[in-house]
Amino acid sequence: MASSVSLADSNPKLCQIIHQRIAEHPQHRITFAEFMDLALYHPQHGYYSTKQALGGIQDDFFTSPHLGADFGELLARQFAQMWERLDRPFPFTLVEMGAGQGLLVQDILRYLHRHHFECFEALEYVVVEKTSALIAEQQRRLQGLTKSWNHLRWCSWDEIPSRSIVGCCFSNELVDAFPVHQVAVESGELQEVYVTVGHEGAGVGDQGSSFAECLAALSTPRIMEYFQQVDIPLPSDRYPEGYRTEVNLAALDWLSTVADRLQRGYLLTIDYGYPAQRYYSPARTQGTLQCYYQHAHHSDPYRAIGRQDITAHVDFTALEQYGQQFGLETIGFTQQGLFLMALGLGDRIASLSTAPSDIPLQDLLRRRESLHALINPMGLGNFGVLIQGKGLDTAERSLLGLDLPT
Ligand SMILES: C[S@@+](CC[C@H](N)C(=O)[O-])C[C@H]1O[C@@H](n2cnc3c(N)ncnc32)[C@H](O)[C@@H]1O
Repeated sequence: MASSVSLADSNPKLCQIIHQRIAEHPQHRITFAEFMDLALYHPQHGYYSTKQALGGIQDDFFTSPHLGADFGELLARQFAQMWERLDRPFPFTLVEMGAGQGLLVQDILRYLHRHHFECFEALEYVVVEKTSALIAEQQRRLQGLTKSWNHLRWCSWDEIPSRSIVGCCFSNELVDAFPVHQVAVESGELQEVYVTVGHEGAGVGDQGSSFAECLAALSTPRIMEYFQQVDIPLPSDRYPEGYRTEVNLAALDWLSTVADRLQRGYLLTIDYGYPAQRYYSPARTQGTLQCYYQHAHHSDPYRAIGRQDITAHVDFTALEQYGQQFGLETIGFTQQGLFLMALGLGDRIASLSTAPSDIPLQDLLRRRESLHALINPMGLGNFGVLIQGKGLDTAERSLLGLDLPT
């Protein structure tokens, strides 16, 4: 669905800053990854820094936690089992990475408090969040909790010592929000997409922006190494001229940091994406970049700069292969629908038909709709769920969420 966003919807200050960054560069260009990083994460004018204040990220997209407490509660069930599997460590640390509006914290903690109190008592909950404005929003939302419970804290990776975490690091829709490098096949060579200055109204993008794109040599050898690592023959005869795709090098840096901080336990990644063979299918000629603005999506990152979300699908093969290099072994890969069903979502749907009669019908229908949305194979249910582990024996690798649902 194309949205009716116009050039005027871009944040003019942010565009100026990006222009400045381009002008300062010796070759008067920046990588697409730098552009995307500024568009999303510039500390004052980036999408994530300003959108919350401007009326809420959920105006552009919603994620599983926005559908109610069920997603967080089912995750909590998995965490409680991880705690048991690890032989009830004290402390048991949950690290939520990229917490958005902070919705999951409450859902997870409330469930553990009610249903797995011993696990709750062992808990340290750490939020690692990049955007200061979102940290402020999370702390505002959770201030009641932090007043009465002092095991919730916000940290940067620098504040977490190497090999210190026994527990689970997890994220929902984090990796798809990392800035990606864009590459394209030109004259049989793999080139990188750079952003440079264009002429207002005549530049790149559906509606003419003040930016232009150019192709030039890859900015780093890591891009070719990446394709070798995930066994994708780019460039080659299989890929047509003009083929364009993305490489998420930031995901590799993140993975290596998490692997370093984990002493023993799990990394749980939930996101939309594919294995490499599917991601880099020659038929997917324009990659997976998607932009979200006011519930519409399109593929033009040069519209509504600083006011729209930009994402790219996750290459789960890369997470698995690089994870192995960093000491994380794959425990299982499944789909969100199957994962949540294995954790009891089916029982929750079934219990709606025997719900007390004083619950208004409208509420029941709304909840049923939300539960179905979480497992919808055409939507959230098709998200990938990757569980990796470090320092685990065979029994510790057997997890409820990876069982086939009955
Ligand atoms: C699409 S939102 C998802 C939010 C939340 N997990 C949810 O499911 O609603 C991405 C989140 O990741 C954060 N983020 C992006 N890059 C990050 C990084 N390198 N470290 C920590 N957080 C990051 C963003 O600021 C934002 O909070």
